[in-house]
Amino acid sequence: MKKILDLISGEVAAAFAACGYDAEYGKVTLSNRPDLCEYQCNGAMAAAKEYKTAPFMIADRIVEKLSGNPMFSMAESVKPGFINLKLEGAYLADYLEQMQADTGRFGCEKVKEPKVIMIDYGGPNVAKPLHVGHLRSAIIGESVKRIGRFMGHTMIGDVHLGDWGLQMGLIITELKLRQPELPYFEEAYEGAYPEEPPFTISELEEIYPAASAKSKEDEAYKEAAMQATFELQQGRKGYQALLSHILSVSVSDLKQNYENLVSFDLWKGESDAQPYIPEMVQKMKEEGFAYVSDGTLVVDVKEETDTKEIPPCMILKSDGASLYSTTDLATLVWRMQDYQPDEIIYVVDKRQELHFIQVFRCARKTGLVKPETELKFLGFGTMNGKDGKPFKTREGGVMRLEHLISGINAEMYKKITENQNAKENLGISPEEAEETAKTVALAAIKYGDLSNQAGKDYIFDVDRFTSFEGNTGPYILYTIVRIKSILKKYYGMGNQIQEAPILAAHSESEKNLMLELSKFNATMETAFEETAPHKVCSYIYELANAFNSFYHANKIMAEEDENVRKSYIRLLELTKSILETCIDVLGFSAPERM
Ligand code: ARG
Repeated sequence: MKKILDLISGEVAAAFAACGYDAEYGKVTLSNRPDLCEYQCNGAMAAAKEYKTAPFMIADRIVEKLSGNPMFSMAESVKPGFINLKLEGAYLADYLEQMQADTGRFGCEKVKEPKVIMIDYGGPNVAKPLHVGHLRSAIIGESVKRIGRFMGHTMIGDVHLGDWGLQMGLIITELKLRQPELPYFEEAYEGAYPEEPPFTISELEEIYPAASAKSKEDEAYKEAAMQATFELQQGRKGYQALLSHILSVSVSDLKQNYENLVSFDLWKGESDAQPYIPEMVQKMKEEGFAYVSDGTLVVDVKEETDTKEIPPCMILKSDGASLYSTTDLATLVWRMQDYQPDEIIYVVDKRQELHFIQVFRCARKTGLVKPETELKFLGFGTMNGKDGKPFKTREGGVMRLEHLISGINAEMYKKITENQNAKENLGISPEEAEETAKTVALAAIKYGDLSNQAGKDYIFDVDRFTSFEGNTGPYILYTIVRIKSILKKYYGMGNQIQEAPILAAHSESEKNLMLELSKFNATMETAFEETAPHKVCSYIYELANAFNSFYHANKIMAEEDENVRKSYIRLLELTKSILETCIDVLGFSAPERM
């Protein structure tokens, strides 16, 4: 379905053309004076210059042309030359009618040329607990993926585990110290390695920080860890076997932690890039891109137009060990080979931007990606506490994701049970309250994050995010639940709405709700094009507000005119569907009641 703004622009453009002006001037936008009109066209102001006529003369002619047009209930020219427009109620009602008939899509067409888009997000580091820093990547990435899917693209989400750096060498070194008798350390060992991992996840999570602390104090220990990392990277069998254990233990823990929060299509990691490194490096050398500088193999990536210095991209350390950029480059090799993506989006902390500039340039220069493949860095800001500093535990430590989530779950549980005691007793069982609390808590966290432009830092304010009022996830869910409950009552009384048309609005609040509904397709398109889930958030906030104003200003169930009542119910159905579709692309859902 065409976007409503395009339909309106089309009509106004035709009027410009009919009056002998360039149709381009007929572009219509949403009004920035909603008190005066719904849409506006400023084209007469621009046309005035070209046609050397006073703008209001042009505006008057256009308005004259538009008079009697069934699309508009008002077309007015306002000095010095604005054209103010209001949609005819019947026209808008018919638009919504078509939206609702378009099941599941509500007027939003899938793209004509779907792309294959890979999305690199999450990025947890194995053996290290998930912390809030990884939360943003997961939340934003998941939403970008879902928006893309909704638009018809093939979206492939890859978690890109951090499993190939010094942290692996550290774990190996510490383990060797603690359990030297294990076969993994015996170089001449020929047998099969045990199937059971030599540690649990909690042991692993204790081993890493212990090793990391030691390496900062003990130079020899650090040397040993670097050596172990190197040997692992060179394919030492016992270490490879340990890596598999570390991975399997970590990944099953991660999967649990990510449950309900995100779902990845691929569980690849940095280590999956290893097999592609030697050939890639060889090629970069042969083709003259890579050269040794101060012992490190590098590729120059600076460009003439740079305003700040972009250092060379490092390919291999002097001992031949690979780096963060090496695995990112070699990951591109298998991504291109196995998926031929048209685009790859990296959802990573914006502080890593320089790394990605280097990697992208190096990949282009050395031909790792085809020229048409777009590499996009979606850098996100820091999640801060109320003190404006990076979010920490009360004791000042790094906040673990699971603790953050369980804390908010508890907070939500309290609110829901209080709410239910205070108001009508809905008969919600403790089990249902717990489930509902989880659903609402997830919405609070995700919406709290997504409603901010990704690139900005934001304050994680638990009290605000969990509030049922204001621009919050719970408020959106509350609105959906409110609609569900009215519908349930309505249908519960044996009512039906078959064949009842959506009527032209009877009040301003109803018209406003209808206008908001009609913006759905445009919102989705823009959110995808601009990789901007926050646009979906602002849309549903406006929509929820419009619905609640309508709800407060009108009697729905008690409306006497049966046709009007049915039309209201149809609007409720559409509002509910659209809100639900939107929260689904944001990555959360609504409970039945709360
Ligand atoms: N593991 C990294 C970190 O915790 C994030 C990985 C981002 N993705 C990538 N392709 N480099 O900082």
